[in-house]
Amino acid sequence: MFNSISAQASKLVNLTNKSTGINHQSKTKLLTITSGKGGVGKSTFTANIAYLLSLRGYKVAVIDADIGLANMQVLLNVRPHYTIFDYIDAKASLEEIILETPYRNIFLLAGKSGYKYSNHSNSFVLSRIVEDTINLDVFDFVLVDTGAGLNDYVKEFLKISDNILALTTTDPSALTDVYALMKMLSKDKNSLMLCFNHTKTYKIGDTISKSLENLARKNRLNSNFMLKYIGNVSTSDTISTTSRLRKLFACEFLDETVTQELHQVIDALLKNIKQGQNERSFN
Ligand SMILES: Nc1ncnc2c1ncn2[C@@H]1O[C@H](COP(=O)(O)OP(=O)(O)OP(=O)(O)O)[C@@H](O)[C@H]1O
Ligand SMILES: [Mg+2]
Repeated sequence: MFNSISAQASKLVNLTNKSTGINHQSKTKLLTITSGKGGVGKSTFTANIAYLLSLRGYKVAVIDADIGLANMQVLLNVRPHYTIFDYIDAKASLEEIILETPYRNIFLLAGKSGYKYSNHSNSFVLSRIVEDTINLDVFDFVLVDTGAGLNDYVKEFLKISDNILALTTTDPSALTDVYALMKMLSKDKNSLMLCFNHTKTYKIGDTISKSLENLARKNRLNSNFMLKYIGNVSTSDTISTTSRLRKLFACEFLDETVTQELHQVIDALLKNIKQGQNERSFN
């Protein structure tokens, strides 16, 4: 009993200790998926991207960092014994909360809907989990699915991320939120990748991205900050049905347009991540 209490206490101490930050020697690349507006398709996109990355031989951890509405366990068809909050509450180790999924090479750190997080108001605790997972140095990618909005939690995840991807639709309110994100990130980040969901052609997203870049120039946002358009994903009626059945669209419909578009997005994503890495090591 004593041993287990002291083990739990030491886990808690570990988590509340000052972060040593991300070990940049780790092979693991962090990709944070965000959007200002809710409901644009982040979680669906993240789960399907994780699957297609795993098909390419990468080992992927998905962290459900949506504090309000965790649904990654449904998308990845996992019934979690533990969630990230068990780690925060020192009820489980990091290894215990990294759950296997039915998909080879995809692991889930599950969230919990409706968790009362007021006693963990320090948002850094959540970003520590991301750092600790990266520092394990066993994954090729850690994908963080954030909740909607630019609250303190989301800001904390963005702070530690070199690779940030905003998913948006062409809806004016979603674009207003993307611009607000650009404004914030331009202060201390080099770039933001932008992908359009519910968007029929590559060209539409490209044109809107250029307008956003022009607006940034006009408003004199930091000129070193780059918006990188990485592609579009069309609407498909089958996506929500597949999700409700706890299946992944990209796995069930390998040859569908949406899956092909997602592959193209991944090509651009990998290219940008590599480019960013080279630039950082050069500077
Ligand atoms: N390309 C698409 N075509 C059709 N339906 C889609 C597409 N992308 C997402 N959806 C559907 O849109 C709904 C919202 O998607 P999802 O939950 O992934 O959004 P979200 O951005 O994660 O939302 P939240 O901000 O609440 O976390 C779901 O029903 C999903 O199945
Ligand atoms: Mg979501």
